[in-house]
Amino acid sequence: MQKLNDCTIVIFGASGDLAARKLIPALANLCQRNLLPSNSLIVGCARREWNDQQFKDHIEKALTSTADHENTEPCAKNVQARMKYYRLNVDDSEAFASFDETLTQWENELELPGNRLYYLAVGPEHIENIVMNLGTQGMLKEHSSQWRRIIIEKPFGHDLDSARALNRTILTKAAEKQIYRIDHYLGKETVQNIIVFRFANGIFEPLWNRNYIDHIQITVAEDIGVGSRGEYYDSAGALRDMVPNHICQLMSLVAMEPPSSFDANAVRNEQTKAIQSVQTLTRNDVLENTVRGQYGRGETEDDTRNSYRETQGVDTSSNTETFVAARLFIDNWRWAGVPFYFRTGKRLPLRTTEIVIQFKQAPHKLFRHTNVDQIMPNRLIMGIQPIEGIFLSISAKIPGPIVDIGRVNMRFQYADYFGSRPDTGYERLLYDAILGDATLFQRADMVEACWNLVMPILNE
Ligand code: BG6
Repeated sequence: MQKLNDCTIVIFGASGDLAARKLIPALANLCQRNLLPSNSLIVGCARREWNDQQFKDHIEKALTSTADHENTEPCAKNVQARMKYYRLNVDDSEAFASFDETLTQWENELELPGNRLYYLAVGPEHIENIVMNLGTQGMLKEHSSQWRRIIIEKPFGHDLDSARALNRTILTKAAEKQIYRIDHYLGKETVQNIIVFRFANGIFEPLWNRNYIDHIQITVAEDIGVGSRGEYYDSAGALRDMVPNHICQLMSLVAMEPPSSFDANAVRNEQTKAIQSVQTLTRNDVLENTVRGQYGRGETEDDTRNSYRETQGVDTSSNTETFVAARLFIDNWRWAGVPFYFRTGKRLPLRTTEIVIQFKQAPHKLFRHTNVDQIMPNRLIMGIQPIEGIFLSISAKIPGPIVDIGRVNMRFQYADYFGSRPDTGYERLLYDAILGDATLFQRADMVEACWNLVMPILNE
């Protein structure tokens, strides 16, 4: 691991859920693994009238209640010792001048070099204002020994036009290399492993194309409902919430060409090209190749579950989809004619995220005059969560005097080989952003390509 520059991490939206459940626990885990810069300052800002101690108490409570955090007292304390709180209304542009002064004063006191990572853990309506205010106050200015970076949470825009407009605006204040658009799926080890699996093993890549692959299925199923996010979700729906981000990331990693190097732009060029090559859906394609649905009331053995329309914050006659599935094609030499199916939704029977690569049938039906009526095609399954691993199903002879074929699974599970440790999924992303490695973050053109892909479905 490379040594990180000393820096200040500013979390906008510090009183929110994300900071408490993910960001601070991730920083504590990094500290535990000795992966934080040797000197750093964590500044939480939000509207609440908290002092440093109240902010720390809030964080303390979160740290003790999250299972994603390696419960190590010294590190939690160490991270808390580096924390300060600043009350800020992010829409008040004038307040940024004194905020900058205070930050600079703290940095001088702690002998920090002024490198800053601004984490925008705020609602989408605040993003533009924060970036503009930071830019106008000169808080994004870099020089040879000082970097300034911004992490922006999803959703990035509401559709293609708004994403384009947001990109255009923020790029007037910050260079693309300063902007880290986060997709937390790329923080998952199993998602990062897709690239390693494909490009560090010589045996799969020769098969990874239209000649051998019949189709690909990407499933991101959740058993939970919309919960307390009714208001946001009702204006977004499953398509916006999951597809131009998580599903597109998974698809791009499976479909991309080998990059020329592991450099951030080389990898993202290939991901972007893959998404840009997805065949644009016509109106007819949308009607024939996509499905949307909404969950109704349901019952389990011991519980009745409300319907989507009964969720707080959701319009009682809402037509927002909580499930979406589609069949897409990628127009390039590698994938011509191979269907890519995706499906995602809330309140499905189980929680599972997986990618299934289904290979073509063996070309010759050798067993036709035996007991075997059908040979199942080989499947390679990449388990992203909750089961993390790679599984290959093959056919094997069932022992006995007659020829009969059964399906068997070769299983690799992460935990068996590498153990498991608490992880929020944000550790690697925070570490990379401090390091200045944008490989796992979305570039402007990629975000736009992803929105472009879903627009015909949204429009229909
Ligand atoms: C978020 C969506 O981006 O991802 C949520 O807004 C969804 O609706 C969540 O539940 C799924 O993430 P994970 O890591 O639990 O699969």
